[in-house]
Amino acid sequence: MSVPDKKIGDVLLKVENISLSFGGVKALTDISFEIREQEVLAIIGPNGAGKSSMLNCINGFYHPQQGTITYRGEKRKQMRPHQAATQGIARTFQNIALFKGMSTLDNIMTGRLLKMKAGLFTSAIYKGPAEREQIEHREFCERIIDFLEIEAIRKVPVGRLPYGLQKRVELARALAAEPTLLLLDEPMAGMNLEEKQDMCRFILDVNDEFGTTICLIEHDMGVVMDISDRVVVLDYGRKICDGVPEDVKNNQAVIDAYLGVQH
Ligand SMILES: Nc1ncnc2c1ncn2[C@@H]1O[C@H](COP(=O)(O)OP(=O)(O)OP(=O)(O)O)[C@@H](O)[C@H]1O
Ligand SMILES: [Mg+2]
Repeated sequence: MSVPDKKIGDVLLKVENISLSFGGVKALTDISFEIREQEVLAIIGPNGAGKSSMLNCINGFYHPQQGTITYRGEKRKQMRPHQAATQGIARTFQNIALFKGMSTLDNIMTGRLLKMKAGLFTSAIYKGPAEREQIEHREFCERIIDFLEIEAIRKVPVGRLPYGLQKRVELARALAAEPTLLLLDEPMAGMNLEEKQDMCRFILDVNDEFGTTICLIEHDMGVVMDISDRVVVLDYGRKICDGVPEDVKNNQAVIDAYLGVQH
């Protein structure tokens, strides 16, 4: 399913020797890998392997005790969430994090907040420009709504939507920030086959049409093999494999990890 003639570019983000622990729990141990421009990179591994923790380090929610993250050539010990967001890293969460009482459109508009120049003060004094800006942002969100085919629910409070559609709204909100790097934590969890197929198509379309680099966590091996350019496999907080889907699928350490073989 991945785009055959797609150009994978330079390294966009480099993770080097990251270690993270919570008290006595070692969530990540000495993890290194790269994400290249325009690629779809999957992070896989059994439950508790450290996948979400890894995404949380990349966008600054967790601060690793060791290691560095280099993003667009700038090396740092840790990211900060706001810094990550302003520099083009957007994400969705394993447990949906939307404003349940707000409409689909308003939730998507919150993804645009960092792009809005006119704050409340400016809006109060210069009503015209602020209003124009608001209209432009709304139009941008409407384009995302068209792209993800959610016109029919644009006014519905998201709390009333079925789970699969809420996941799609969360993707829409992340896209509203026009990310360079999009982090998706289990975007297809709990979906039926048809919803998964739709989600796969949208992820590939985002990657293809907007050139967005994507790093996703996914448990469904069929999906991972279909849409990823490369796969990083974690087990008990360690990286056990990194390669193209075909190699990862046949790697003995990966097979053992999934079958629960003790090391
Ligand atoms: N905020 C936290 N406080 C304490 N321990 C944590 C925290 N976040 C993660 N952990 C621990 O770190 C380890 C890795 O968890 P993580 O959520 O990253 O795994 P995962 O691979 O995403 O698992 P799953 O597939 O179940 O989502 C687990 O042992 C978990 O309990
Ligand atoms: Mg997780």
